[in-house]
Amino acid sequence: MGATDAARADEAVLAVAAAGLLEGVAGVVGLGVDLVELDRMATVLERTPRFADRVFTPAETEYCRARRDPTERFAARFAAKEATLKAMGLGLWSVPMTSIEVVRDDESGQPSLVLHDAAAAAASAQGIASWRLTITHTDRVAVALALALGPGADPGASSG
Ligand SMILES: CC(C)(COP(=O)(O)OP(=O)(O)OC[C@H]1O[C@@H](n2cnc3c(N)ncnc32)[C@H](O)[C@@H]1OP(=O)(O)O)[C@@H](O)C(=O)NCCC(=O)NCCS
Repeated sequence: MGATDAARADEAVLAVAAAGLLEGVAGVVGLGVDLVELDRMATVLERTPRFADRVFTPAETEYCRARRDPTERFAARFAAKEATLKAMGLGLWSVPMTSIEVVRDDESGQPSLVLHDAAAAAASAQGIASWRLTITHTDRVAVALALALGPGADPGASSG
């Protein structure tokens, strides 16, 4: 998805800040950040009905559609998938977007990543053992940050 210059600038600031925080931290294999503007996501969802099926798993779609602000939720998940690709140095659409899935802990609401098929193979080839994912969204933008960790970097991290 495209982004405005302002969004790109915000994204660049976030990426530099996150990279600075993690500089020299052992076990970090990759880091990705992405920002999605909600009006763009709303337009794509409306104009291209197949987009949601191409990008989101049935469980993700079910979760987003059940909320009162589905566009925010879809945008956040799209940002998470793009951030994950960036953490692996892969381009958009280089693996099926449905092979990167955002799941939520039912109790806490905390999101995490589960990779399937091509995305899981790419992660494994890069020595990625686990992921951390953080998401935030407002009525204007959604932002996600994905952190790829090597084996033993963080035993408490969820695998995926
Ligand atoms: C985490 C929390 C502070 C985020 O509040 P917020 O500022 O309104 O949320 P944001 O808009 O910035 O981000 C929303 C995203 O945060 C993520 N999130 C939700 N709960 C989370 C948690 N416990 N930890 C980490 N991330 C969380 C989700 O991905 C959510 O988006 P989604 O629902 O579309 O998946 C709030 O949800 C909270 O306090 N949750 C309860 C925490 C908890 O641990 N509860 C356990 C039972 S006591």
